[in-house]
Amino acid sequence: MMTLTAKAREILRNVLLKSKKDKVYFAKAFFGLELGEKQQQALLLGGKVQIKVAGRRFGKSTVTLIDVVHECATKTKQVWYITAPSIDQAKIYFQEFEQRAANNSLLDALVKDFKWSPFPEITLINGSKILGRSTSRNGVYLRGKGADGVAITEAAFIKDKVYHDVIRAMVLDRNGVLRLETTPNGMNYVYKLFQEGLNDSTGYYKSFHATVYDNERLDREELERIRREIPELAWRIEYLAEFVEDDSFIFPWNLLCEVFDDYELKKEPQNGHRYSIGVDLAKYQDYTVIIVLDITREPYQIVEYHRYQGRLYTDVVAHVNELQAKYNARVYLDATGVGDPIAEQVRNCEPFVFSEKSRNKLISNLVVLIQQKKLLLPASWTVLRDELRYFKNVKRGTKIKAEASEGYHDDTVMALALACWSLREYREASPEAISLLRGLRIYG
Ligand SMILES: Nc1ncnc2c1ncn2[C@@H]1O[C@H](COP(=O)(O)OP(=O)(O)O)[C@@H](O)[C@H]1O
Ligand SMILES: [Mg+2]
Repeated sequence: MMTLTAKAREILRNVLLKSKKDKVYFAKAFFGLELGEKQQQALLLGGKVQIKVAGRRFGKSTVTLIDVVHECATKTKQVWYITAPSIDQAKIYFQEFEQRAANNSLLDALVKDFKWSPFPEITLINGSKILGRSTSRNGVYLRGKGADGVAITEAAFIKDKVYHDVIRAMVLDRNGVLRLETTPNGMNYVYKLFQEGLNDSTGYYKSFHATVYDNERLDREELERIRREIPELAWRIEYLAEFVEDDSFIFPWNLLCEVFDDYELKKEPQNGHRYSIGVDLAKYQDYTVIIVLDITREPYQIVEYHRYQGRLYTDVVAHVNELQAKYNARVYLDATGVGDPIAEQVRNCEPFVFSEKSRNKLISNLVVLIQQKKLLLPASWTVLRDELRYFKNVKRGTKIKAEASEGYHDDTVMALALACWSLREYREASPEAISLLRGLRIYG
């Protein structure tokens, strides 16, 4: 964003000229990044509709950002959108860009204007623009916008419908391109496009796959440690980037995608609204989670949440009482074991004692609320999203219990279920919910 001397302009022009044919050189010159072999493959993939599926930390977003900036810098007046399930996730691209530009005067010299509000937007000196939007509210922020390209980050976490009805149409007029990058998430539209790309000899669809082992930057010992620490299923999905369909999941993605949306948490009580608070207390290593739910009307929405580790119970009690007073809410707290004396110190508290039976009721209530789309949960809270995704029916002897996959936490799920206990008339289940709940041995 500085004025360039004639000499600097000359240098920039030459580097750009060389970059036109050499994206790997572009990455080095403008981003200071030495790409690994597999990352180079991803950068040079091409195609009209491109699907990059890879494990966490592979560099999916970095490579895609370089690709987008390359397109915009080497061609004039390009319009590109970066989109994601939440605006926070889309902003990661812009943060990475801002940080790289602060350390690289060539990249900085490309920028004419950079703003964050109301939406992130970069204008380059050649007139090209990079715009950030979320896919929330069924794509209303993208609908009708024409683009030369759209990059979709966390692509497997947006609704199939938004891809097909909104994003696909954005590039039609300008004969533009689509760049999807993601970890897998079941058998949704990303899986179908990925298969398409594997079998497409025309080069229209292009698929790319990498596991965490394709990342030369990651330490092998560190990887083995992660592998031992997390459940096998999560390892396969998140790190080996496998498409897995597991029918023991209690909240399949086609349900979850209907209740998660991007919205700003109010964090303040509204006049005339009613609230409930769910509290799951940390025992040993896990987290204390507090969720405030607006229960005035459907969809009941999370308005504030807290999740932390390693605080004294006296501090937690003070915090819960503060929230109770703020929202004038009833508090539903796990009063099993250590929770019992704590429940006594919380105002307007309904202690919830866990037994096999009460726990099943609590969870079935949550299942029904989600099944009937009565909740609105923040898409930016990926911890809750993932704990719900990995919540499953686990066989314990002859019994089946709903719990986190081994190695995963379920604190956010339990806090949400407790906050929803205020709405327990929803135990009346739909036929679909009943069939899900049969797995839990609650019906039938
Ligand atoms: N070739 C590279 N050299 C150095 N750092 C890299 C390289 N590729 C990616 N990174 C860094 O590694 C981190 C993870 O990359 P990211 O693109 O966010 O991964 P993903 O989107 O696959 O999870 C980022 O901080 C990024 O800047
Ligand atoms: Mg990423």
